[in-house]
Amino acid sequence: MKNENQKNTLVSLFRKTKIISIRLYRHKGKISVSKKENLNTAGLNIKNESYGFELKDGTLGPSVIDISSLYGETGQFTYDPGFTSTASCESKITYIDGEKGILLYRGYPIDELAEESNFVETAYLLLSGELPTKEEYQEFELAITHHTMVHEQLIKFYNGFRSDAHPMAIMCGVVGALSAFYHDSTDVNDPHQRMIAGRRLIAKMPTIAAMAFKFSLGQPFVYPNNELDYTANFLNMCFAVPAAKNQISPTIARALDKIFILHADHEQNASTSTVRLASSSGANPFAAIAAGIACLWGPAHGGANEAALNMLMEIGSVDKIPEFIKKAKDKNDPFRLMGFGHRVYKNYDPRAKVMQATCHEVLKELGIVDDPLLQVALELEKIALNDDYFVEKKLYPNIDFYSGITLKAMGFPTTMFTALFALARTVGWVAQWNEMIEDPSQRIGRPRQLYTGYDRRKYSKLDVR
Ligand code: CMC
Repeated sequence: MKNENQKNTLVSLFRKTKIISIRLYRHKGKISVSKKENLNTAGLNIKNESYGFELKDGTLGPSVIDISSLYGETGQFTYDPGFTSTASCESKITYIDGEKGILLYRGYPIDELAEESNFVETAYLLLSGELPTKEEYQEFELAITHHTMVHEQLIKFYNGFRSDAHPMAIMCGVVGALSAFYHDSTDVNDPHQRMIAGRRLIAKMPTIAAMAFKFSLGQPFVYPNNELDYTANFLNMCFAVPAAKNQISPTIARALDKIFILHADHEQNASTSTVRLASSSGANPFAAIAAGIACLWGPAHGGANEAALNMLMEIGSVDKIPEFIKKAKDKNDPFRLMGFGHRVYKNYDPRAKVMQATCHEVLKELGIVDDPLLQVALELEKIALNDDYFVEKKLYPNIDFYSGITLKAMGFPTTMFTALFALARTVGWVAQWNEMIEDPSQRIGRPRQLYTGYDRRKYSKLDVR
């Protein structure tokens, strides 16, 4: 115990020394820190005044410059629209190396998880940090597959929507409304309530998404079935009708389960950052996840799978591809090849690799060999991968390029694609939300700005304007 205390004291002394050295580092003119200290600090010179900031190393990936004291010390902010060079938090959940095409959940490569694991186990891993033991898995699976029903009153919400409502519009509304039904799991400071809220969200999301689908079809809602596993239950709620017996293909269920695994988390993307920012104010988890769903909906993010398939349908035939490639390359045309490019992956999207194989498995299972959309997709992929514009800008097919074709083949309309993404990503959102709340350094997220509007001016009355 004494040794442990001594060790802690040494560590904190070392840290203090380092911070003092950073403070000493600030002076007019030349930087005068030792070489060793220089390795741990990043120098910044503003108007001939030098400052040093601590470099923090992660276990993998680039180190970060801790600029949390920048404003206090220098009176300046950093400017980074789109957060291209900004780490917004510390996280142990997901690691991406965009250059090498690596995606790890809690250290495990995505392709191994997609092959060997299942969505429920992957959810446990993302939430807890470790793969479950047999007992832990059984307890978790039971909780997730036996809390799938939603409050009966919530079902009435659906009738308030227009029949042509987009499922994502319904999801935003219904998930946000969960906080009006589950009051016993909205205290974010209580770890038990957080656990219940997280499990509720993961368990009920398939029911909410399937009901949005059924509502759009004008078919009766199908209640969850505890006999089925997570993904088979979702397929059943989507495709079963009271008049006929529903058969679920194990190949299709497994393929969809893989799609859920691939979409479960993706570190600090736009919707996850939205969830973190929304909940940094102490907002309840249902409201925060509804905010994440709203952000995911956009075509540059989760909405890209829907947009990619709509684009393939618009192209329609292989001979039209050059026309669309030309449009995508034209700077004056806002058109982009949907399903191509990624902010982080600049070589290939490791999820797209698994998704491409899954897509072929599904098409084979369903006997779809000559699908014109698939022909367009394959040809487009070939042309884009060899075109200078796409090669130079490192624009590779992303996960959404293949997931759209796969989901369509399974029988989902394009409007459901992003809803399925939201279902899977709920796991990542919940894991990241929990991590944020447990982080002692967590404060309300409050970015600053570079103001370029008017200076102070005097109000003029309407009759003199
Ligand atoms: N088609 C044509 N040109 C493109 C495309 C595209 N899909 N994507 C990027 N570019 C060009 C862009 O015009 C720009 O050119 P220039 O340098 O000459 O101005 C350059 O490539 C860099 O683009 P950017 O918009 O600065 O890159 P970004 O990192 O901000 O955007 C992106 C990433 C995914 C939003 C973008 O590539 C895009 O809009 N892709 C299509 C939408 C899509 O498939 N999104 C799904 C992403 S994967 C799912 C997820 O993780 O959410």
